Amino acid sequence: MTDRSEFVVVANRLPVDRVNGEDGRPSWRRSPGGLVTAIAPVMRSREGVWVGWSGAADEELEPFQADGMDLVPVPLSALEVERYYEGFSNSTLWPLYHDVIAPPVYERKLWEVYVRVNRRFAETAAEVAADGAVVWVQDYHLQLVPAMLRELRPDLKIGFFLHIPFPPLELFWQLPWRRQIIEGLLGADLVGFQRPGAASNFLRLARRLLDGRTSGQLAFVGDRVVRAAAFPISVDVRELERLVNDPAVRRRAEEIRADLGGAKILLGVDRLDYTKGIAQRLQAFGELFRDGDLKPGEATFVQIATPSRERVAEYRRLRDAIEQQVGRINGQHSELGVPVIHYLHTSYSRDELAALYLAADVMVVTPLRDGMNLVAKEYVACRADHRGALVLSEFAGAADELKRAYLVNPYDINGLKSTMLQALRAEPAEQARRMRQMRRRVIEHDVDRWAREFLTVLEEPRHLDPPSAR
Ligand code: ADP
Ligand code: G6P
Repeated sequence: MTDRSEFVVVANRLPVDRVNGEDGRPSWRRSPGGLVTAIAPVMRSREGVWVGWSGAADEELEPFQADGMDLVPVPLSALEVERYYEGFSNSTLWPLYHDVIAPPVYERKLWEVYVRVNRRFAETAAEVAADGAVVWVQDYHLQLVPAMLRELRPDLKIGFFLHIPFPPLELFWQLPWRRQIIEGLLGADLVGFQRPGAASNFLRLARRLLDGRTSGQLAFVGDRVVRAAAFPISVDVRELERLVNDPAVRRRAEEIRADLGGAKILLGVDRLDYTKGIAQRLQAFGELFRDGDLKPGEATFVQIATPSRERVAEYRRLRDAIEQQVGRINGQHSELGVPVIHYLHTSYSRDELAALYLAADVMVVTPLRDGMNLVAKEYVACRADHRGALVLSEFAGAADELKRAYLVNPYDINGLKSTMLQALRAEPAEQARRMRQMRRRVIEHDVDRWAREFLTVLEEPRHLDPPSAR
């Protein structure tokens, strides 16, 4: 795999996870999740290369092939994992970009390693990209890569997509390295965001930095034009429909319902992250029992919480807090053999997730801030039966598109309570009406279309001159 490629994806993680076989030998399996599903087909059709980290510290791997994709690993030392991944990416940028729900850490030593690791990703991409290749850089871990790469390889077409929110100027301005981040992103030809508001936030910052040289979606940087626009990501509807049509998945959904004793099922599926509003939804649910609106056995909450970023202090604190809260609510309101909350701190297969989506009467998605939230779209994609109801936070990108969800402000606990009850008690005809409209949107705007639209705009020729009289 020494040939240089016409299409290069650069992301913090490689699209495969290491699995240890029964014989103890490691192998690689495609990682679950929307991004990989979205990009894998494009990678194959364009014979692309994926540059990313294997997920383990201090590991030097040669380029390899897995799941039909050419992969180029970028090594990270243990210190780099701590300062670049857990540190600047997940203790500085992640909270800053999510409304400072947790306080961001601003430390120079984290920033220095972020710069160093971004340079390594840029250099690796520069080595594997063919002349004039398209390079698509993903997410907040790699915001300096576009400018670094452009300096090394001005011949490339560079796209960048941010999967998480992009904050308003008033928050972004806190960042001691705000100028460098904006300059980093402006190295791309196209900067994509989940929501139009995020693109405008970015353009407003660029305007400050570039002394007003922006117009509409465009920013004028020297003799280059950079476009910033929204491309809301989506899910693989066909894959999910195939899953829910599988008789084994349907049987499993029935089994889940039977195991839960016929109670109405409310479901939460999230990485265990403080942006997801898990505490708020559980509090609201607990209060419905306290107030006598629900009785044990009548409804139960299944909260699946995937372990995530467990070496970051805020995530450890969150886990303790949620587990204490679940214990308290169950202690107060459950009856023998009839817990009101089922809490599972684990990751599931796609089949099991699909069965859970099918079994759930109400899907509860209440992030305090979320770039998109694919779980909400997955639920809709799975409900070809037009049953079930979606309670969705106004602060998730998905709320722009899923307007017929039961929309809530997750900070408003009374609002959450009444909305969860309303969703639980909705007539089947009302559920079907809402679900049909949401499904139309998700089916028409699936993940395939997301990737196609981004790449079409990235590759379209530009004949625009900077506005000289500006
Ligand atoms: P985020 O990217 O912040 O984690 P999203 O909702 O956009 O949030 O995407 C989460 C993805 O991870 C979805 O595709 C979802 O199906 C998957 N996922 C979430 N929880 C689990 C779990 N417990 N087991 C397996 N996959 C999960
Ligand atoms: C979000 C981010 C992704 C990230 C994922 C899982 O979706 O936008 O870039 O890969 O969370 O987080 P992790 O830290 O495990 O990669």
